[in-house]
Amino acid sequence: MDILNMPIVKEYLRTATQLYNHGWAERNGGNISMLMDGDFSDMPVLRTIPFSFDAADMIGRCIMITGSGKYLKNVEADPENNIALLRICDGYAELLWGLADGGKPSSELAAHLLSHSARLKADPSHRVVMHTHATNAVAMTFVHSLDEREFTRTLWGMATESIMFFYDGVAVLPWMPCGTDEIGIATAEKMADRRVVVWAHHGVFGAGSTPDEALGLIETVDKAAQFYMMTAHLPVLQKINDSQLKEMAAVLGITPRPGYID
Ligand code: 13P
Ligand code: ZN
Repeated sequence: MDILNMPIVKEYLRTATQLYNHGWAERNGGNISMLMDGDFSDMPVLRTIPFSFDAADMIGRCIMITGSGKYLKNVEADPENNIALLRICDGYAELLWGLADGGKPSSELAAHLLSHSARLKADPSHRVVMHTHATNAVAMTFVHSLDEREFTRTLWGMATESIMFFYDGVAVLPWMPCGTDEIGIATAEKMADRRVVVWAHHGVFGAGSTPDEALGLIETVDKAAQFYMMTAHLPVLQKINDSQLKEMAAVLGITPRPGYID
């Protein structure tokens, strides 16, 4: 299979560059994974990579994921050293392609695999999980309540298209050590009924059917957070109010997360 010429893989590679260009991927910050459709059964197993969490639902699925410690700015120019194609097995992954320099998959493999499993149950078209250090969304976790309803309501109130694209709300996890099974499990629990999870003082996880869609979703969250951060210290004279949010939802024919609009 000519992996690098698959249009969805080209989009994946381009997205890594776009995350860097946003200033959200300093050093090795951030990681991207994508469920791969297609038959990879003829690819030899290059090596196996153990993991310690239970990803039973994902056994047999193939994913593309960035490597641990790899810089997203280098992914597009040198995919073979910076990303991996993995087949998930029981307690380990088979490396089918990539990580040619001997690297490992992202340290956030648990959050990625378990979030894929959660999102697939909610949406069969789901394919992509993206973690990035979105500047304004992270900044907001220092000055705003981490209550999910309050956090979401603030973002909905800051930009008209917020409720359009994250009507299901934004989940928030309190600070936790990253790169652990625990934060992976906690992230996936939130992903069961939402597509955005903010990690306080760290970054954002977003999910979508394509790399563009997952990135676009995080962009809408970060833009609203940017408006908040630009105005939080100023006397705010007006914002989008609850009746306007309801009006917008009616125009769009969407159901915002129940209980979030008074
Ligand atoms: P990796 O380089 O292991 O993917 O980790 C980057 C990161 O952002 C951890 O949260
Ligand atoms: Zn991170």
